[in-house]
This record gives sequence, structure tokens and C-alpha cells, in this order.
Amino acid sequence: MRKNNEIPVCFEGRPIYDIVLEEGLTSLSDRFLKSVPECGKVLLVSDSRVAGLYLEDTVRAFSSAGVGTETYVFPEGEENKTLDTVREIYGKLAGCRFQRGDCLAALGGGVTGDITGFAAATYLRGVRFIQLPTTVLACCDSSIGGKTGVDFDGWKNYVGAFHMPSLVFMNMGFLSSLDDRQYRAGMAEAVKSALIRDRSMFEDMLEDAASINARKPETVSDIIYRSCLIKKSVVEIDPGEKGVRAVLNFGHTLGHAIEKLSGFSMLHGECVSVGSVLASYISMKRGMISEKEYSDIVTLLDSLGLPVRTPPDISLDEVIAAAHSDKKALGSSIKFILLEGIGNGIIDRSVTDGEMYDALVALKGQAS
Ligand SMILES: NC(=O)c1ccc[n+]([C@@H]2O[C@H](COP(=O)([O-])OP(=O)(O)OC[C@H]3O[C@@H](n4cnc5c(N)ncnc54)[C@H](O)[C@@H]3O)[C@@H](O)[C@H]2O)c1
Ligand SMILES: [Zn+2]
Repeated sequence: MRKNNEIPVCFEGRPIYDIVLEEGLTSLSDRFLKSVPECGKVLLVSDSRVAGLYLEDTVRAFSSAGVGTETYVFPEGEENKTLDTVREIYGKLAGCRFQRGDCLAALGGGVTGDITGFAAATYLRGVRFIQLPTTVLACCDSSIGGKTGVDFDGWKNYVGAFHMPSLVFMNMGFLSSLDDRQYRAGMAEAVKSALIRDRSMFEDMLEDAASINARKPETVSDIIYRSCLIKKSVVEIDPGEKGVRAVLNFGHTLGHAIEKLSGFSMLHGECVSVGSVLASYISMKRGMISEKEYSDIVTLLDSLGLPVRTPPDISLDEVIAAAHSDKKALGSSIKFILLEGIGNGIIDRSVTDGEMYDALVALKGQAS
């Protein structure tokens, strides 16, 4: 299926940046020079784990382009996706006299990408940045589209900005060190993409679940490539999330609520998996997808080792309350994404608390 390794992302018909899928870092310097011309220096931002694995090699790749690099490393984890970390990045940038023409590079997963992008969006009212995603989630989803931001007082992504990267360079080799739980959680966003826009990708994933679990390189890069095409096609139409882009939040309305109530002990992708099953259940109850389609969705997520049940120890009332207080809820009506058939996500504002409650009860897991 994979046709090439380059996907241009356009705005109003004009290419703005490229997504590049590569094996290795060999072409990074050329790509960088082309995508970020006349850049004086780069601040490479990474979390503690990724820095230990890949920072040195990445610095070397930049040096070969003749670009001066500085580095900033923060402790890994969603709990550090905060304004405090951004503030430290500002300090580093100011201390190293970064100017408007300079650039930041996010080497890491979605947490690193979101923090770095936000720092780039706001430092000196905006400097360029590039994404070097190292998780499946970041490759399939978060590194594309220019949504940046941090959590605030436990609320996900409460502070943020739209700021497009100048380049998204994906080295598939980075994914080899990802642990199984993170790998699987990232696949939840790929399933989401297939569910909202690409039925044949969903069917292929169902058929190829064993290869996905075995991390067969061609299968993984094919899934990432197809996820990128979907994300690109949606963000090109609606870069500022004024309309259709909301379909990318399939599984996220209740997923985010569960993520918050789990005290972030569940991974984002795991919560998206549960949220996707809940949204699919509501779609099935409304007759928008068949029982067979619903059970195929559960089968796929389950066979990828992802949770498909509401955690037994959280209050369902609190999940619904949290869904209402999500920033994407408008007044009392929640912007919910449902499936009008697999491959066709639609925005719906009529989902009731009763429907959410029924889905949460029907899918409640057993306490162990
Ligand atoms: N901006 C967007 O459009 C968007 C979209 C989806 C998700 N997100 C955000 O993305 C975040 C989740 O991203 P994530 O799952 O990548 O989390 P993450 O960045 O925290 O990475 C997960 C863990 O994997 C480790 N890791 C990363 N790459 C590794 C590698 N190659 N080898 C070994 N370990 C590695 C990290 O150190 C971390 O501990 C959430 O904050 C979510 O809100 C943003
Ligand atoms: Zn997500």
C-alpha cells in the first residue's frame, strides 16, 4: 500500500510542510536545511528517556548540517506537560540568545511535541519548530496538524496554540525501543483514524492484527503512513479546528474524561481505546453501525491488547461530569463523534447523558 515516503501538508492548496518517513537519520540534515532555511541554531527538546536513547545521534545529524545545537531535557511523563516545563524552555532559549530565525526540534512522543510546539508558538511570538516523533502515537497523530499545548491543573491540553511545524521527520528506527504498552497505546490512534475515515484500513488492521502485534516493520510503517494521510486530509480542510477536524476527537470525549479520572494512570491511547468502544456502542445503539461492525471494532482493539472496558473503579457520574466540563463541550451539549458506518465519523451534538451512562454501564469492567 505504501507509495512513497513523503507527504506534503498543504494550506489553501499551498504546501506548508512535509511529513517524511525514513529508516535512520541519514537524510535529516538535508531535509532540515531545505525545510528550515537560514536557521542559526536549534534547541533540541527531549524527555529523559528519549534523550538517553537518541539525543546524541540526533545532535550529530544536526551538526553535519552545520547547524549549532543546544539541548534541553525534561523528566519523562504527561505530568510534566505543564507551563513549568515551558517556562524552563523559555529560560534556555533566552539564555542561549535564540532569535526569531532560530528553531526548536521536538525529539520524542506527543508530550515532547506538544510542549515544544507550544514553546515555539509563544517564544518571541513564534519561532519555527520541527517534529522528530519517536512514538507510534506521535507518528500517527500528534506530530501532524500544529496543535500544541500543555495540561493545566490536571486538565488535558487546557492551554495551547495552533502552530505548524516546518517539518515532521519520522525515523521508523526510533520505534524499536518503544515498550509494548506504549506501542499498543499508539495503535489506538491509528484505529481511531481508520474508524473515522478509512474502512479498508480498518479491515486491513483487523486482518493484520498478528503482524501489528509482532511489529512487522512494513505493517507498522504502512499503518503510520495511512494514518498520516488521514490526519493530513482532515487538518488541511480545517487547520484551526473550526469544524470537521473535530472528527479526530473520536473516542476522546469520554476517553479524556476517563484519562483525567484515572489520575493519568492509564495511557492516553488506552483511554482513547475505551472511549472509542463507548462511542461505537452509542453509534450501534442508534442503528448507525451494525452489531457486527461494533463487535469487529471491539475485536480489533482487544486483539491489539488495548482496554475495551470502562475501568471498574471510577464513578460513572464523574465520567459524565468530566465529559461536560471538557473544553470541547459547548454549553451543556457535548460535541460527540459518532460513526455513521465504519470509515465515516460524524459530529453529533445530541448525545444525552442517558446514552453515555448506558454505554458506560454496558461496558463496565469487573473489579478484580
Ligand atoms: N497535538 C496533538 O494533535 C495531539 C494528538 C494526540 C495526542 N496528543 C498528546 O500526546 C501525548 C501522548 O503522546 P505519547 O503517547 O507519545 O506520550 P509520551 O511523549 O509521554 O511518550 C510516552 C513514553 O514513551 C517514552 N518514549 C518515547 N519514545 C520512545 C522510544 N522511541 N523508545 C522508548 N521510549 C520512548 C517516553 O519517554 C514516555 O515515557 C498526550 O499528552 C496527548 O495529549 C497530542
Ligand atoms: Zn489522542
